[in-house]
Amino acid sequence: MGQQLPTGASTRLNGAPVESDAHSLTVGNDGPIVLHDVHLVEQLAHFNRERVPERTPHAKGSGAFGTFTVTGDVTAYTAATPFQPGAETPMVARFSTVAGEQGSPDTWRDVRGFSVRFYSTAGNLDIVGNNTPVFFLRDPLKFPHFIRSQKRLPSSGLRDNTMQWDFWTASPESAHQVTYLMGDRGLPRSWRHMHGFSSHTYMWINEAGEKFWVKYHFRTNQGEENLTNDEAQALAGSDADYHRRDLYEAIERGEFPSWTLNVQVMPYDEANHYRFNPFDLTKTWSHKDYPLIEVGTMTLDKNPSNFYAQIEQAAFSPSNMIPGTGISPDKMLLARVFAYPDAQRARIGANFHQLPVNQPRTAEFNNYAEQGHMQHQHTGDAPVYAPNSYGRMFSEAQVTVADGWESDGALVRAAATLHAEDDDFGQAGTLVREVFDDAQRDRFVETVSGALSGVASDEVLGRAFQYWKNVDATTGQRIEDTVRAAN
Ligand code: HEM
Repeated sequence: MGQQLPTGASTRLNGAPVESDAHSLTVGNDGPIVLHDVHLVEQLAHFNRERVPERTPHAKGSGAFGTFTVTGDVTAYTAATPFQPGAETPMVARFSTVAGEQGSPDTWRDVRGFSVRFYSTAGNLDIVGNNTPVFFLRDPLKFPHFIRSQKRLPSSGLRDNTMQWDFWTASPESAHQVTYLMGDRGLPRSWRHMHGFSSHTYMWINEAGEKFWVKYHFRTNQGEENLTNDEAQALAGSDADYHRRDLYEAIERGEFPSWTLNVQVMPYDEANHYRFNPFDLTKTWSHKDYPLIEVGTMTLDKNPSNFYAQIEQAAFSPSNMIPGTGISPDKMLLARVFAYPDAQRARIGANFHQLPVNQPRTAEFNNYAEQGHMQHQHTGDAPVYAPNSYGRMFSEAQVTVADGWESDGALVRAAATLHAEDDDFGQAGTLVREVFDDAQRDRFVETVSGALSGVASDEVLGRAFQYWKNVDATTGQRIEDTVRAAN
């Protein structure tokens, strides 16, 4: 006690100076530690609470901050502020793998998450997408089952090819996305070298109130590049954080990655008649039918200064929409709108939206949700209820919501079947036959055959051969021949 502390010495949680970060308080030099060593107790107790649960899917990732600059003119389709000519909007982005845990290698074959947030003056707009334009499923009831099948066995805690293929082959709607996953895009060279997609169809609304269906495409300006199986495997052993490091170091070097945002726009009334169901997440829209329209450029130029506070606690959600944007009848999207904020209330806490990375930067924030763990923002002594007679603003209008759609019918548990080409395998076959070149098809056969080599069940293996023959007869046969030759 009484010792002069150097300027900048550490403090206790109450702000008082700490005497030592190296020596606990003991009775004599070798005596017992005492319970009233408040600093030691604080340090140990806080250490025990250092972790929040990792995200259930997409646990491993990282991100950066930047700006979105409008370069096109999409005012005919949306009134959303970040997409208006001349707008520059601050952003945060996070990239991730899906199945692996926090410490898992970045270069395991997997779909990559591509989450972006526009801190617009009208509120936060999030697009929480992937590096592929489609997904494995079209009904949210299957999502928890899907994620469990990609994670670990209940018995050994090991990952398991049989479990993965059992789920996929019994869920044929997965074929299009599994084709992407087993193709070159399953191993991006870095996050800087991959595209990002909303995958889902969203809604845009223009100034006049006209509605459009829209798909977002972030196209990398670094060029799309991928790793080979061998490169990815070697990196998984030598540098598990390869993609996290790549993004961080590129930005530190001043090489700021950028993506051009394009959209496909479908007039509202065309949705019912298009040959593919535009609300089926396993389908893309042909670029010939709906060509890309340029919107602007996202550039990432600032690394987080604190990974935990700014990236781990970032809470992205498709429910974060702003005027001029909306969701669509895609069932997966409708479920996600609930799932994300709920996961974040559980993972981070009820007031996760008050953390700086999650705060909206709107001029006026006036929400009546209050209290709960760690309330930080508050409205002083303003009324806590609406309507009130004491001047706190509230909204009372009766409106037809700008981003709604017509819906009617009996309650059913069924997939939509109104569209001409609603099968499970058609677009996957087109991808294999018409988008992949010969070399890509060869690599695809090699990758699928390798992934099937660990399948322990003959029934699942047989289903897998049929699954790939349904995608493309020749390719499926090649996969079967390759697997049988190796056994
Ligand atoms: C019904 C289907 C889905 C459900 C229930 C679901 C649920 C979740 C949950 C609970 C999280 C963790 C959120 C957090 O703790 O912050 C998450 C993360 C994520 N999901 Fe989904 N998901 C679904 C489908 C999808 C689809 C279709 C995509 C891509 C198009 C997607 C992309 C992502 C991404 C990128 C993240 C990481 C977000 C971040 O960077 O923090 N998910 N998902």
